[in-house]
Amino acid sequence: MKKDKIFIACDTKDTKKVREIIKKSKNSKLIIGYKFGLEFLNSKNGRNFISKLKNKITFGDYKFSDIPNTCASAVKSVSDLKLNYLTIHISSGLEALKAAKKVSGKTNLVGVTILTSLDNKSLKEIGFDKKVEKIILHQAKLANKAKLDAIVCSPKEVNIVRKVFKKEIITPGIRFDSNADDQKRILTPKQAYKNGSDWLVIGRPLTKGNIKKNIQNLISHLK
Ligand code: C5P
Repeated sequence: MKKDKIFIACDTKDTKKVREIIKKSKNSKLIIGYKFGLEFLNSKNGRNFISKLKNKITFGDYKFSDIPNTCASAVKSVSDLKLNYLTIHISSGLEALKAAKKVSGKTNLVGVTILTSLDNKSLKEIGFDKKVEKIILHQAKLANKAKLDAIVCSPKEVNIVRKVFKKEIITPGIRFDSNADDQKRILTPKQAYKNGSDWLVIGRPLTKGNIKKNIQNLISHLK
């Protein structure tokens, strides 16, 4: 049977905690990758830690958002990490996406759509008049045009993205219950896979408390 694929969000600045996450998440039922976000990447020892990781699926969630030249230079400057996945905000614009893609080499360049912590109300607050779904569809088309390798969106929007984007779809905004923390557009792991997500990104629901037990709960939930 095909194994479900999960990126665990290692949101900490503590390399010991990341070691613990890696050790305790080992299991034979799931394919696990490790996602490093702004907290870890900007910590004193984070980059060095990633550079020494061996035989792991790695995801550098840099969420680059800048002018084309800066985005491309930034992608090049992390190439030594040989990341499997690397993120850029689609809102950086088509030219920036193309420039980054040109230099991303073997690393899968992942386009981030509207953050899963935003809903229609928060979009209005930052001056966007269109509804989330409309923007996501638009951004997915742009990612396709720039030949990006994957897209990040909410599990609620997989069907929309799939219409215009045929490569991998990665979905954060995963919760087992209504305790959403700061996330707004959430679904359960089961619902996310049912909608067609290729990879789920899960952080706090797995890394808070007993990691081993949380992973076992996830496996049971997915049965
Ligand atoms: O703890 P939680 O499961 O909410 O973690 C989700 C992770 O996915 C965080 O590391 C967050 O930065 C990242 N992410 C997200 N929404 C996006 C893109 C990335 O939550 N649209």
